[in-house]
Amino acid sequence: MKKNTNNKKKRILTGDRPTGPLHIGHYVGSLMNRVKLQDEYDCFFIIADYQVLTDHLSDTAGIEGNIREILLDWLAVGLDPDKSTFFIQSRIPQIAELTMYFSMIVSVSEVQRNPTVKDEMKAAKIGKKEMSYGFMGYPISQAADIMCVRADLVPVGEDQLPHIEHTREIARRFNRLFSPVFPEPQALLGSFPRLPGIDGQKMSKSRNNAIFLKDSPDDVRKKIMQAYTDPTRIHATDPGHLEGNVVFAYLDAFLQDKDELDDWKKKYKKGHVGDVALKKRLIEILTEFLAPIQEQRAALARKHDMLEEILATGIKRATHEAQTTLELARQAMSLDYASLLRKK
Ligand code: TRP
Repeated sequence: MKKNTNNKKKRILTGDRPTGPLHIGHYVGSLMNRVKLQDEYDCFFIIADYQVLTDHLSDTAGIEGNIREILLDWLAVGLDPDKSTFFIQSRIPQIAELTMYFSMIVSVSEVQRNPTVKDEMKAAKIGKKEMSYGFMGYPISQAADIMCVRADLVPVGEDQLPHIEHTREIARRFNRLFSPVFPEPQALLGSFPRLPGIDGQKMSKSRNNAIFLKDSPDDVRKKIMQAYTDPTRIHATDPGHLEGNVVFAYLDAFLQDKDELDDWKKKYKKGHVGDVALKKRLIEILTEFLAPIQEQRAALARKHDMLEEILATGIKRATHEAQTTLELARQAMSLDYASLLRKK
């Protein structure tokens, strides 16, 4: 008998907003982890285009290009469509349906308390009065992303924890009110701390402080030469500090040879090495790390048909799972109307 190992694998769902190309912070914080998880789990990777509408309504024309960028980045770092399912949020109508059902079992004050939504409102400079209904409710739609495939685990960064907590609460509530349809999904935090941007703040495209996976060696060099190090250090012979030092945060993540890393740290603390020498070595390491990714990316960018095919296959599989989920949910809620509606 053919063994169907897929059924036994626990299911994962996670993904990204298509707001632009991905950066080394995404790589260290999540992509690296996803590449490993693909072998052990049945992974669904979502491109969350609805979520872009919370904040970038003026540039909807750019979303399609960004979806393509994300796909290329995913593939170039080793996310594998033969192992995992790639799909676009808005192409799974069951996500919208499930969001509707969930929105009835969530209170307004609950959503308004979400600290990540509050932070994002601040960052987008949106006041409570102007906040759209969709912005406020996007965590509910994210719960539907996760639960439309009945995922067990959700690998995310720390900022997403309130959403996962809320998703768990919605699952419990639904299961209690109707019948047990949904697993209570668990967050899976990566082991690596979040990488700062070159200015020491949170790395993000909008802050202009990110190093993108697609950055050319020249871009990388320029950005690293500007990176924040140790403001207390005036001369290369002054003892240096590692805490809050962006160059060391990057070296921690990308320098594989730990003896070399320790050596740089020792020398830096003693004031035996200058910022420029250190930065030059980091530029070398980053450029070397990015080269094969960029080579892959360039090769993939020429295969437009393949990208189409990957999305079509992924959307089909996600739809299939989501249809099953919605049937279960409707049955549980007695909304299947079995005596009135013939099954197709
Ligand atoms: N909100 C996530 C982010 O901004 C993206 C996302 C959308 C997501 N749906 C998801 C993450 C479901 C995990 C699970 O990065």
